[in-house]
Amino acid sequence: DLTPTRADRFSFGLWTVGWQGRDPFGEVTRPALDPVDTVHRLADLGAYGVTFHDDDLIPFGVDDTERDRHIKRFRAALDETGLVVPMMTTNLFFHPAFKEGAFTANDRGVRRFALRKTMRNIDLAAEFGAKTYVAWGGREGAESDAAKDPRAALDRMKEAIDVLCQYVRERGYDIRFALEPKPNEPRGDILLPTIGHALAFINELEYPDMVGLNPEVGHETMAGLNVVHGYAQALWSGKLFHIDLNGQHGLKYDQDLRFGAADVKSAFFLVDLLESAGYDGPRHFDFKPPRAENVDGAWVSAAACMRTYLILKEKAAAFRQDPRVLEALEAAGVGALSTPTVAPGETLTDFLADRGSYEDYDADAAGARAVNIEHLDQLALEHLLGVA
Ligand code: GCO
Ligand code: MN
Ligand code: MN
Ligand code: MN
Repeated sequence: DLTPTRADRFSFGLWTVGWQGRDPFGEVTRPALDPVDTVHRLADLGAYGVTFHDDDLIPFGVDDTERDRHIKRFRAALDETGLVVPMMTTNLFFHPAFKEGAFTANDRGVRRFALRKTMRNIDLAAEFGAKTYVAWGGREGAESDAAKDPRAALDRMKEAIDVLCQYVRERGYDIRFALEPKPNEPRGDILLPTIGHALAFINELEYPDMVGLNPEVGHETMAGLNVVHGYAQALWSGKLFHIDLNGQHGLKYDQDLRFGAADVKSAFFLVDLLESAGYDGPRHFDFKPPRAENVDGAWVSAAACMRTYLILKEKAAAFRQDPRVLEALEAAGVGALSTPTVAPGETLTDFLADRGSYEDYDADAAGARAVNIEHLDQLALEHLLGVA
């Protein structure tokens, strides 16, 4: 069934459907959406969750009375619709104060302000029951290698995440952090540019268990990397806390296309991975309905994200159940990779004494063997194309 339900756990950022289409070359093309209307619309379409930056809901700089008013009416919309807030995040990129960075700005005052802005919104995240707090460091980077000391920047980034973890612990909140890598844009180069960089960084933190990843399809693609491999490594490390699904054609500006709109084969294998690995977090779409669309078109784009996910989920299940695929997987020896190379109980002495593994090993025969990859891959493609 291709109709989204709450059980599918689809969520959207307020800033996605609400993107007004301002780009470096042109003004907005769509009116601002009222977050309350967005909640109702998302609920009607079958989503279960809505996410946001502090400033998406509460305009930057408003007083406390105004802030409370925004929070109350949003809370009421959630209660009416049953929509949840699985994730929240901070806008540390829009205000000119963050032009040279936030947690890693050279200016210490900006860094302290960025931390306080984040802490205040973490309190709100706890109030809304968000379990994941995303940190996307869009302005943490540089255009000049002279003007930023990357090792000091990493020190300050670690300090920021450590302080925020400490804050969550002291307040007793049930919240984990998810770092979102991106190689560039808006900065020329961004700190922690890929899943791999972020995973290595987490190992240096004070509370590594509290910190994982929020990888975005488009961002790994912008770095020229294999999206499925990246998500798989995050899963393998137990760090796939949250995901941003969208589409991106190769190494270009951040396109944030709707999910599946670009590399559909990679999207197919990503859904296959998430579903077969039992990923149970939100299926969160971080996309931008193209600027050329009006508001109705933006909602068509949002609904299509969910529909495409469900189509790919069905296709992936059919692929996995197809007897020809099972046979092809066997022929390609895919399952054999799960057998440990050194047998359980086999000592190093045993291993070194096994002449069949080296002295008598027929490397030429191994070089001549069939690996049967193409047939299997073509079966995947035919499932995807609907002719299997
Ligand atoms: C991007 C990023 C952002 C972040 C979001 C959360 O497209 O560059 O995905 O959209 O995900 O701002 O902080
Ligand atoms: Mn993006
Ligand atoms: Mn994102
Ligand atoms: Mn985005």
